[in-house]
Amino acid sequence: MKKILAPSILAGDHACLRDSLLLADQDGREWIHLDVMDGHFVPNLSFGPQTVADLREHSSMFFDVHLMLDNPQDYIDSFVLAGADLISIHVEPEYDVAEALSKIKSLGKKCGIVLNPDTPAEEASPFLDQVDLVLCMTVNPGFGGQGFIEGVLYKVRDLADRRAESGASFLLEVDGGVGFDQVDDCVRAGVDVLVAGTAYFGADSQTRARFASSVENRGEQELSS
Ligand code: DX5
Ligand code: ZN
Repeated sequence: MKKILAPSILAGDHACLRDSLLLADQDGREWIHLDVMDGHFVPNLSFGPQTVADLREHSSMFFDVHLMLDNPQDYIDSFVLAGADLISIHVEPEYDVAEALSKIKSLGKKCGIVLNPDTPAEEASPFLDQVDLVLCMTVNPGFGGQGFIEGVLYKVRDLADRRAESGASFLLEVDGGVGFDQVDDCVRAGVDVLVAGTAYFGADSQTRARFASSVENRGEQELSS
């Protein structure tokens, strides 16, 4: 499976997010990661459905929407309407996770489950046969530019093993502190989608291309080596 580098637009220029989106699109990326924050579940605010809807007009990239909200179930309709292709929701808040995941799928979108760094893989197990993606946060959510938490890769490996044993087909995604230096370890652990904000939007075009190539050509290299 070809590995995916999903730039996180949280690290883009919030005075003109369309330009950041077009930069990633013109670079040839297929996914864009959109971090939605409510200032409650995480200590930061980012943007809402209107921003996603306006960005949707400018690109056909795959919109990977990460809801860092206390009550994500209340916002599924508006992010589907805004043009999300995949909506991922955290297991930590108190709500009916299975029902929310079913709702995302009933609206024709892909769904994902998200685990914070300290949340064990066990918390995702009730949903593994239902989801299209499992996102393992490699930072405590809220802010870009933090350091990558290496220990989360043990959880990723555990989930990759569960996937192999069960025949489930979810993608494994990591988000937070991911840069060029983390690619090898992430891919070896079984990661399919690497989200990168600072390491992507903070880099010049040559560095972005090198970073992307180390991820996206990975599948072929491994197959051929
Ligand atoms: C944290 C956010 C960040 C962002 C990427 O809540 O989800 O992880 O996407 O951050 P950096 O800049 O570390 O790649
Ligand atoms: Zn995210």
